Amino acid sequence: MADILSRYRRLVDAGELRVDPDQAAAAARLAKLQAELEAAPTRGSVLWRMLGKTPDAPQGLYVWGGVGRGKSMLMDLFYDAVQVQRKKRVHFHEFMLDVHARLREARKSESGDPIPPVVAALADEARLLCFDELVVNNMADAAIMSRLFTGLLEKRVTIVATSNRAPDDLYKDGLNRQLFLPFIDLIKAKLDVMTLDGPVDYRRDRLGHTKLWHVPNGPDATQALSIAFFRLTDYPVENRAKVPSEDIVVQGERTLHVPKSLKGVAVFSFKRLCVEPRGASDYLAIARRYHTVIIVGIPVLGPEKRNEAARFVTLVDALYEYKVKLLASADAEPMVLYPKGDGAFEFERTVSRLMEMQSDDYLALGHGTGGGSGQE
Ligand SMILES: Nc1ncnc2c1ncn2[C@@H]1O[C@H](COP(=O)(O)OP(=O)(O)O)[C@@H](O)[C@H]1O
Ligand SMILES: [Mg+2]
Repeated sequence: MADILSRYRRLVDAGELRVDPDQAAAAARLAKLQAELEAAPTRGSVLWRMLGKTPDAPQGLYVWGGVGRGKSMLMDLFYDAVQVQRKKRVHFHEFMLDVHARLREARKSESGDPIPPVVAALADEARLLCFDELVVNNMADAAIMSRLFTGLLEKRVTIVATSNRAPDDLYKDGLNRQLFLPFIDLIKAKLDVMTLDGPVDYRRDRLGHTKLWHVPNGPDATQALSIAFFRLTDYPVENRAKVPSEDIVVQGERTLHVPKSLKGVAVFSFKRLCVEPRGASDYLAIARRYHTVIIVGIPVLGPEKRNEAARFVTLVDALYEYKVKLLASADAEPMVLYPKGDGAFEFERTVSRLMEMQSDDYLALGHGTGGGSGQE
């Protein structure tokens, strides 16, 4: 099996990736970790017993930098290449939802501290944990992260994380931030902190100057959005009939079906999002989970469609708050989408946001930046 560095070089040689010295350096660092992980004695092995003491786990990495720099791409390459049996790659937000669910269960069955059993279970499942998009924007997460990660590292779990933020900027201005500071110290002490912040935002590049808002709905718009989707996700076109779907968890209790979900890009119909009875918590779950959302089939909203219009306002607010990139097909430009009816005046703010969301400045912003201030 080839290591991540040779896989990366092969993609560059094939012209699929552009030459980027920062990425090459990161790939080399990941290759080193790959070798360490593959050489590390597994639990209970002869080598482990011969050592006579618990061997140290390879030191993990915290890779941070602006959006579109290739952090997730490199982590995926690394994760696929590394020959480790117990490995897990998760989106950070989903991971924390899972942790909170496990903590709730542990509190039911035991009277003591729920964190150690949860840590033990997680460490049993994986000795390599890869987190994409580590971000902290609520107090519930902030309060437990230091203990959770200290526990995982003690149990010899190697952690690789990507983030848009430097460790010192995590949970910035969050409530009770002092309780969170030990986590920052932990990252800086125990993980190798590496920046991947070259000059090129490749995602923005891939979006090119493609139109984001397509009028009217129809085969041309569908075709344009489909091309954008495959360009954004590097998905082989011959597999296009089987793009994966996903069910995301909303508020830790119900699920929302995402018909197309790949590499942080989701595709929805307007009907599913705004005609069905959905609300702010669904939209926030989407906004946290996806850096890019494609909505198809937005109709012109007559006055009788005030519920749909109100949901659309809430949806756009959530996407805007989390700096999600929006592509859409609609029967009209934003300013004439909901000309009259209840709340048409408020809808003007949505129109203005929709315009701003098509600007270069907005598109250059990182997913989640500025969103969530620890008030949840
Ligand atoms: N060197 C490169 N040349 C061309 N495309 C790239 C390069 N690096 C990354 N990309 C592409 O740019 C997009 C954004 O990369 P991604 O890894 O998602 O960025 P990040 O996680 O840093 O936000 C992806 O489609 C990815 O395949
Ligand atoms: Mg990413």
